[in-house]
Amino acid sequence: MSLPLLSARLGKRQAALEYKWMKRATSPIPLDQMLARRVAGEPLQYILAEQPFGPLTIKTRPPVLIPRPETEHWTIRLAELLHPTATPARPLSVLDLGTGTGCIPLLLCHLLPAGSVRAYGVDISPDAVNLAAENAALCGLSAPADPSRNSFQPIQASFLDPNFPHLNLGVAPPFDLITSNPPYISWPEYVRLPPSVSHYEDPKALFGGPDGLDFYHAIAALVARNDFLNPGAVVVVEVGDGQADSVQRIFKATAQMNTEIWLDPWKKMRTVIARPGI
Ligand SMILES: C[S@@+](CC[C@H](N)C(=O)[O-])C[C@H]1O[C@@H](n2cnc3c(N)ncnc32)[C@H](O)[C@@H]1O
Repeated sequence: MSLPLLSARLGKRQAALEYKWMKRATSPIPLDQMLARRVAGEPLQYILAEQPFGPLTIKTRPPVLIPRPETEHWTIRLAELLHPTATPARPLSVLDLGTGTGCIPLLLCHLLPAGSVRAYGVDISPDAVNLAAENAALCGLSAPADPSRNSFQPIQASFLDPNFPHLNLGVAPPFDLITSNPPYISWPEYVRLPPSVSHYEDPKALFGGPDGLDFYHAIAALVARNDFLNPGAVVVVEVGDGQADSVQRIFKATAQMNTEIWLDPWKKMRTVIARPGI
């Protein structure tokens, strides 16, 4: 298996780049096998078993969603927004809905002052929760013991469960920050996904209902509950291309929130920021 086959699949420039990364990788997998897997269409991040996310290296493993650059971009911007007021005197209580690898809360924990963040992440998938726990340990951010450090704790649960978060879950409202990159692919988009996504990444991480908006309705209903958010709380959700206006409407109508939109590095409306009180 050789570089020409990879070039035929990816184009010369991309193949040369990826070949360089594979050669440099500390992975125990022989280079030939890595090339064969990549030529067969497996995402590079699953072959290398890691993905940079800001200054962090996040461990990746199928079928848990590979962290994307647009998510990294808004998470860094969110950390910059929170930084001036984040203090160990009153740690932020953070809940990440659909945490996957744990990349969002882990990067917030890494970028915000020590002792200023207590983060929890829920995911329905045991694969995701196990991987998020491994990532928390690798980043030195496992919960809790030492209150002078930031911490992240992944928990297996469905936030679509009407009893969420039930009493024995180990996490309870009110929260200062809700983050989510929920499944948001609509049915027409789902059936057109490239095999490099649909054959490897968990459908539960991708499919967001017929119009892709099911999880935004659920999150808006959660944060509309009286006791769910602290005063001054912020809700930050990633959205699919073309969904930002509908998601703003959902948060306004269901939870009476003020909203704004952040663009991603490619100028797409990618993130909806919602705050209580119209
Ligand atoms: C798009 S992925 C995002 C993963 C990660 N936050 C990221 O940005 O890379 C959505 C995640 O939501 C999880 N998920 C799907 N349905 C869920 C539910 N009902 N409750 C909790 N998590 C759910 C999936 O398992 C998946 O890990």
